Amino acid sequence: MPCTASERIKSLPGYAFADIDSLVAEQKKKGIKVIDFGVGDPTDPTPGAIRNHCKRAIDKHKSSGYPSYIGSKEFREGIANWCGERFKISLDPDREICSTMGGKEGVFHFPLGFVNSGDYVISPNPGYPPYERGTMFAGGNNHFYNLEKDSHFLPDLESIPKDVVKKAKILWLNYPNNPTGALAPKLFLKEAADFGHDNGIIIASDEVYSELYYDEKPASILEVTREGVIAFQSLSKRSNMTGYRIGWAMGDESIISVFKKVKTNIDSGTPDFIQDAAIAALQDQEHVEIAKADYRKKADILSKAFTIIGLADCRPKGAIYIWQEVPKMISGVDFAKKLVEKGVVGTPGAWISRENNRVNPGKQYVRFALVPSIPDCREAAEKIREIRL
Ligand SMILES: Cc1ncc(COP(=O)(O)O)c(C=O)c1O
Repeated sequence: MPCTASERIKSLPGYAFADIDSLVAEQKKKGIKVIDFGVGDPTDPTPGAIRNHCKRAIDKHKSSGYPSYIGSKEFREGIANWCGERFKISLDPDREICSTMGGKEGVFHFPLGFVNSGDYVISPNPGYPPYERGTMFAGGNNHFYNLEKDSHFLPDLESIPKDVVKKAKILWLNYPNNPTGALAPKLFLKEAADFGHDNGIIIASDEVYSELYYDEKPASILEVTREGVIAFQSLSKRSNMTGYRIGWAMGDESIISVFKKVKTNIDSGTPDFIQDAAIAALQDQEHVEIAKADYRKKADILSKAFTIIGLADCRPKGAIYIWQEVPKMISGVDFAKKLVEKGVVGTPGAWISRENNRVNPGKQYVRFALVPSIPDCREAAEKIREIRL
């Protein structure tokens, strides 16, 4: 039977990595080792203590049963305790927290609770694709703000067109930022929250990288206000738990209560044994410090090689990426291609950004996800040093 995809699915942009994929395949065929800085999926194992906790939890929950839609009381209490220590905020585990199946699931489904046809969602460019795709699936319109070096990769909220502001329901922030590695000062978070209050727009702050920072500690928007804001968190990157699919949303009770209603209709909760593993992860800071030190080392190794060949020092302030700027004489795409020939794979910035206000803010950049091992980063650095611009 011939089947036709929906207009929604057909409207999705194509796979941007096809060109790089074929170059990678070619290099592999030639027997060249490929070191992949493409996708931000950590390759280090989940810490042993977390894995053991998960194994024991399978037996503890021996009669399976559906988990709670919003997360077990213990998990939500664990989150509230952690937030109390980390952000000095006091959250009500029953009313202000809801578990998600990782950050992606929460981010993607969130607009379903608030967006009607014709409404706008405002998000960063470059930005994590589910901000845009979740809006499309909810029937809303997207408006993008560019992240540029001259404005410290922060949005100029006042420059968002008034007709968009009027119809906007959600504004996404993401700091520490993927891909730029920028942090948002608390003063900016306050400005954004005020902008949301003044215009009736929910400020949705994607804070999944809040624990991976290299000097200054990132703030949560919940340190500024609870009213009209929601933050999304995940254990994927801080605890190498991408495969566990666990995260949570927290914030304004009235927003969380709508989000819970969305979630109840989509899935039946995060498995209990995963939630137990997540509690263990939240109670241990040591593995996070180790991960942070490793990411810093990797950023240093690569950045040093880039500066040696004459590129700017683009060491991140947070998150797990280098957003490497390249000089005007070569595009990010061509620089990425030169690297692929040596077996080092990065993502051209232009492929994860769009042209907006007549500029593509990713054109002169390549993103490197710092996920290969430290020895592989050293090997990649050697190859980077061989590049002639
Ligand atoms: C900005 C941002 N938000 C959210 C996520 C979601 O991660 P996960 O679904 O693994 O929690 C990612 C993953 O790469 C990300 O980069």
